[in-house]
Amino acid sequence: MENTKQPVQPCPNATILVVDDDKNILQVLEARLAFAKYKTLTARSAEEAVEVLASQPVDLVVSDVKMPGMGGVGLLREVLAQWPQVPVILLTAYGSIPDAVSTIRSGAADYLTKPFDGHQLLEKIAGLLGKAADKAPAKARQGKSALSDQLWGGKSPVMREFYGLMERVAPTDVAVLILGESGTGKELIARILHDQGPRAKGPFVIVDCGSTQPTLLESELFGHVKGSFTHAVRDKKGLMEEADGGTLVLDEIGNISPEMQTRLLRFLQERTIRRVGDTRAIPVNCRVIAATNADLPALVKKGEFREDLYFRLKVVTLRVPPLRERKEDIPLLTERFLEAFSQAQNRPKVTASPETLRVLMAHSWPGNVRELKHALESGVVFCRGQVLEPCDIQLEQVQALPTPTPAPAPAAAPVEAAAPAGADSLSLEDNEHQAILRALERTAWVKKTAADLLGISRRAIHYKIKKYNIQIPGKDQDE
Ligand SMILES: Nc1ncnc2c1ncn2[C@@H]1O[C@H](COP(=O)(O)OP(=O)(O)OP(=O)(O)O)[C@@H](O)[C@H]1O
Ligand SMILES: [Mg+2]
Repeated sequence: MENTKQPVQPCPNATILVVDDDKNILQVLEARLAFAKYKTLTARSAEEAVEVLASQPVDLVVSDVKMPGMGGVGLLREVLAQWPQVPVILLTAYGSIPDAVSTIRSGAADYLTKPFDGHQLLEKIAGLLGKAADKAPAKARQGKSALSDQLWGGKSPVMREFYGLMERVAPTDVAVLILGESGTGKELIARILHDQGPRAKGPFVIVDCGSTQPTLLESELFGHVKGSFTHAVRDKKGLMEEADGGTLVLDEIGNISPEMQTRLLRFLQERTIRRVGDTRAIPVNCRVIAATNADLPALVKKGEFREDLYFRLKVVTLRVPPLRERKEDIPLLTERFLEAFSQAQNRPKVTASPETLRVLMAHSWPGNVRELKHALESGVVFCRGQVLEPCDIQLEQVQALPTPTPAPAPAAAPVEAAAPAGADSLSLEDNEHQAILRALERTAWVKKTAADLLGISRRAIHYKIKKYNIQIPGKDQDE
């Protein structure tokens, strides 16, 4: 970028994080950026900057190189690894451009030597933010592609009807409740509703209510103010505020506590939020999509889910049919997944043999489209030629769950044996379920130890316990 004297067009409302151990330089930078209508955050060290980045969205970082601790180059590495979309401008002392900076110049980052020209800095900032903004319309255009390009396999009558509903619901702004078994595509559907809706250019924020610890969920969703609890070292925006102008997806909504249900209901009625520890009401304008694999109407009947909240969320309800009720979609889904995985694995397109298709059609798919997707992904790995044979997908003896609704006319005799889920199952999901149960039993139901034993995070084990509806005796020993 050359230092031309053209007027700089700042990107209003962008948030810039400036990092310098010298308080005076921070003040000068802050004043300049504020004058150009940027929102400015400051940090006195790279470590503090990482904290800020982790707690709120930042559009660009301006950082000094020479600071005690991990310094500007360490910060840049951290940003490239964790927030690759955030450009970093490094400030270096005149005549001392370290090697690291010159190599990094080839990436997204830029640099300026001190003492720097303020105009030049603003120009670089506007340039980098402009580049980021240029990418957005392409993404939005992508979102407008035909529904069938994103949600594959719409041949079955149930899915044709479903597409029709989605097409009518997407352009509106109403709250949508997506119900369906695990792996049926609820998250994908929420994303498509956003992409095809009036808020496509706004943020798309998913909150996983199921795997977020209840005590954290409130501050995750609503944010908090500094000092509102022990670890609240600074003000933090919640995910609801992040979703302002866009879509908020409340995933696994069936799992939220009665207190959170009440807070959510209040938000849906008033459309304002209060950060934890704050009295100010902040307006938030977003579309709300809720999703769950729980039987929400049954939870309402049992008194475990507030009926008034249920009615607010389900202005429109989309029920995603399980894959076993739309087996006509399997051939097209298979073709699309095989094409995608062949491409991803850099090999000529693999197609399924007629025998393989018969096997796929006969399976009951308790894990729905996700299970099919995973089976085909590993199938492409195992497949030696360009034709996927039944031996590549290892489904022959699988029957994990009973099929409540018989499949409409499978193309061949079912190949599933009526064996119960358990040790003999080849299904990844069954095996995962069993492994988690065994680990929990072996560790006296202490989730943290079981997670260590399995080599997964605590967050992951919480999620899986919910997913497989594993009942913990005497509950929550490790919390
Ligand atoms: N019709 C479809 N076309 C293409 N991909 C699909 C389709 N349905 C689901 N998938 C893919 O299957 C996987 C599982 O879908 P998704 O995560 O949306 O399911 P879910 O219903 O949210 O499951 P869970 O309840 O377990 O969270 C994803 O990788 C998704 O992209
Ligand atoms: Mg999901």
